Amino acid sequence: MSSTPELSPRSVGSSEESGVFVVRGDRQLDATLRPSVWDEYVGQSHVKNNIQVLLSAAKKRGDMPEHVLFYGPPGVGKTSLAHLVATALEVPLKTTSGVAIERAADLAAILTNLEPGSILFIDEIHQLSHKIEELLYPALESGTLDIVLGRGPSARTVELALPPFMLVGATTRMSQLSSPLRSRFGGGVFQLDFYSDEDLCAIIKRSAAVLGLTASEEVIEMIASRSRATPRVANALLKRVRDYAQVHEREIDTKTCELACEMFGIDQLGLTKDDRRYLETLLTGFKGGPAGIRALASALHEDPDSVEHVYEPYLLRLGFIERSSQGRRLTQTGREYLRT
Ligand SMILES: Nc1ncnc2c1ncn2[C@@H]1O[C@H](COP(=O)(O)OP(=O)(O)OP(=O)(O)O)[C@@H](O)[C@H]1O
Ligand SMILES: [Mg+2]
Repeated sequence: MSSTPELSPRSVGSSEESGVFVVRGDRQLDATLRPSVWDEYVGQSHVKNNIQVLLSAAKKRGDMPEHVLFYGPPGVGKTSLAHLVATALEVPLKTTSGVAIERAADLAAILTNLEPGSILFIDEIHQLSHKIEELLYPALESGTLDIVLGRGPSARTVELALPPFMLVGATTRMSQLSSPLRSRFGGGVFQLDFYSDEDLCAIIKRSAAVLGLTASEEVIEMIASRSRATPRVANALLKRVRDYAQVHEREIDTKTCELACEMFGIDQLGLTKDDRRYLETLLTGFKGGPAGIRALASALHEDPDSVEHVYEPYLLRLGFIERSSQGRRLTQTGREYLRT
């Protein structure tokens, strides 16, 4: 799909660079704006309440809490939650990702080097290979690791006791997670959802304060409404509006916000040229659908995974498309949007 080079979602798919119009520098912004206490973590109250009970109960018992998994679209606060869990327990957090643990030795090195009582955060955990998953199961259930010494007939398995730890997993691709692994998260499997405009406004307000910016309620609401219901996008957009204001020597007002969005190809709903092209392709190339994901992705010159997990969730939320076993279909609302 085409878009301005800086804001291209080309590299979506890995947690490192996932998210529409999120670029490399935004990872640093993530770290700067990450909530450091529970009160700064806005929304998702169901998940927050459950986690807080899990942590308090474990603390009272003097145990490690059971393992938990967070899933949801990119930028909705999974990593932030993992950090808050570690802060609440006052323990170290070791971060890695499914794709980084390639060999048994990688997993053994990580697990045996954990400080007792720490959190192991595995991002994009669906990317663990089957072999590594199998090794992880005893580590999660009984705190042991089976290591094979030697090769061939003389090979033998040694059971190694591991330091106690809590696994926090995160994934944007829940459907790709194996059910045996899913069932190992005894503390809960929590879905993080898109955010309401009200919650996004609260997030943007705090981010503006952290970045030392003055923004009116109107500006904050405008940014929220164009942020695809996603905190990371809201923060990225706030930063871009600030940059635009700086370069053009303007105040951060609604006009500046509009001009900046226009430059970045973001419309009133937060949709980009890529989203529009998706909808137009569905309308003209497939007569509004139903269109199979592979055929649609091929027409868009994108990989089906990105189409399904990056573009479609927000279009579904807006009610512009419908997904069924027959494929994707443009809704009446989607058709009306294209007429505007
Ligand atoms: N509930 C929240 N309250 C306040 N800020 C939030 C919240 N969720 C996310 N953010 C902001 O959005 C940024 C991105 O969130 P985070 O990195 O936790 O998302 P993620 O779900 O892990 O994304 P990915 O799937 O790409 O790894 C954070 O650094 C933080 O600034
Ligand atoms: Mg993350």
